[in-house]
Amino acid sequence: MKILYATSEAVPFCKTGGLADVAGSLPPALAREGAEVAVILPLYQRVREKFGGQLKFECYDYVDLAWRHSYCGLFSLEQDGVTWYFLDNEQYFNRPDLYGYMDDGERFGFFSRAIVRMLPHLKFWPEVIHCNDWQTALVPIYLKDDGVREDRYRGIKTTLTIHNVEYQGHYGKDTLGDLFGLDHGWAEDGTIMMDGDVNLLKGAILCADAVNAVSPTYASELKLAYFAHRLEGILSKCGYKLSGVLNGIDMDRYNPATDSHIATNFSLEDLSGKNADKAALQRMMGLREEPCVPIVGIVSRLVSHKGLDLICEVLHDMMELPLQLVVLGKGDRKYEEFFHWASQQYPGRMAVRLDYNEDLSMAIYAGADLFLMPSKSEPCGLSQMIAMRYGTVPIVRETGGLKDTVQPYEAWRDAGNGFTFSNYASGDMLYVIREAVYLYKDYPDAFSRLRKRAMSCDFSWARSAKEYLRIYANITGQTWPVPAAEPAPVLEEAPAPAEEPAPAVEEVSVPTEEAAPIVEEVPVPAEEAAPIVEEAAAPTEEPAPAAEAPVPAVEEPVKKTPRKTAAKKPAAKKTAAAPKKKTAAKKTAAKKESVKKETTKKGPAAKTPKEDSAE
Ligand code: GLC
Repeated sequence: MKILYATSEAVPFCKTGGLADVAGSLPPALAREGAEVAVILPLYQRVREKFGGQLKFECYDYVDLAWRHSYCGLFSLEQDGVTWYFLDNEQYFNRPDLYGYMDDGERFGFFSRAIVRMLPHLKFWPEVIHCNDWQTALVPIYLKDDGVREDRYRGIKTTLTIHNVEYQGHYGKDTLGDLFGLDHGWAEDGTIMMDGDVNLLKGAILCADAVNAVSPTYASELKLAYFAHRLEGILSKCGYKLSGVLNGIDMDRYNPATDSHIATNFSLEDLSGKNADKAALQRMMGLREEPCVPIVGIVSRLVSHKGLDLICEVLHDMMELPLQLVVLGKGDRKYEEFFHWASQQYPGRMAVRLDYNEDLSMAIYAGADLFLMPSKSEPCGLSQMIAMRYGTVPIVRETGGLKDTVQPYEAWRDAGNGFTFSNYASGDMLYVIREAVYLYKDYPDAFSRLRKRAMSCDFSWARSAKEYLRIYANITGQTWPVPAAEPAPVLEEAPAPAEEPAPAVEEVSVPTEEAAPIVEEVPVPAEEAAPIVEEAAAPTEEPAPAAEAPVPAVEEPVKKTPRKTAAKKPAAKKTAAAPKKKTAAKKTAAKKESVKKETTKKGPAAKTPKEDSAE
């Protein structure tokens, strides 16, 4: 199966949030399962600076979008069984940050159009393009547009992963043609419009062949107004193709037995190193070196949906418990000020670093005993999984991926891998913190068994990769895994008729269960996605039935309108540094230079650029 994974960030090249971790780990995991995988992302300044020497220049071409005609270079890198492609246009991507510019709409409109445009230059023609969040949401839409004229585009299936529905790519309605080069038909039938604006994520949800959220619980929550940021109606309507696939973590990178970031390594078999890491953390953060007092760690962006208001409400009650508190993160000023102030009230017992620091975060995962994540909403969350891998028991609110990865401790049958509370209420949070602290203090053996259960959870990517492959198989009508070829029959005397052509592998594999591109199977049973904790009861709650959610007045979900044929306005542009290697050059260097001079940048019509950051 040939998969092109389209993303605006990926570890180790560039990262602002969890999307980068996923995009850095899932494609190699898909490759390990036998898929042919390429990833495509922008050639940002930081990628050029850190990896420029390793990149191979492939070719360049020009991308037409509305009235623009822009240079696009293609670079590649082979790593972890995956081809990583980088699209180069210096005007759009040679900037210090990934997002937060007023022309983000134009930048990612270009990126999405360029992905489709550059397909003929890639090493394979993909069967599936896997898009992520609003930045690549235009890809399924452009494929529909191009598919009207060319079958080969129509043949490509698309899947969209929603990492955080809060960021949708809202732009004023005048951007439709001028910025995104789309015919007004896309607005008239409502496909890409929402509340009078262009909404890229909505358009992709309607046009993609499959849509998934990053955890089964988040997939259900997305049908509810509380979580869906006005897309609940569309997502309910598309419930037939919506599923939840729990993210994994890179179990090799996050391995306490080998991690070079932490003071002392340890493992499930020998946890003594964790005590040393705790002492190291206490020294590092200026906390009292008390081995028998549990450390509660928080590593988080300091923003509202992380549930920090609950902590602000009951911080003093928390600090009356025999615990120490460590906070690492930065974000909204009101939380930064609060935590800074609070840490001064409890010297030696509470320490705060308003920063993002990889080494310190690893020291907290390794040295803390409990890890607090009271999120209001959490599509998946990776920190709780990392904490568990390092034997730090999570305390979480039951939402999104937190609910799917943490099963509540049950003393009576010694089960569960953490502590959970359901209502978004500070009293409920305080109750389970108290439960956790006293289990640590009064029942160390029970706590140690709980810690070991948390450490034993399997959050590897292999499981998620298999689920994605099942989605790809559903939408392409293939079976996966491809059944092993039957052993050749031992019939030396009877040669096969020469005329009979050998069928392609995919055709040989007669679908055993379901080959039709019906997505009924896509929703993944909750128990399959739950992490492997022997004692933990599998989540049994069914997603909210789609029927109960309000169905909005949306016209035809998918439209196909011939693109407008009006002559393009002139003003071509070429913005990237000229590639060193010239393939069958289309323009002479001189001509390219003159094109570069002509380059203009149309004023963007981005309405809320900040809102569309990736995290
Ligand atoms: C977003 C979500 C986070 C998720 C990550 C990766 O950052 O907020 O919960 O883990 O994407 O999918």
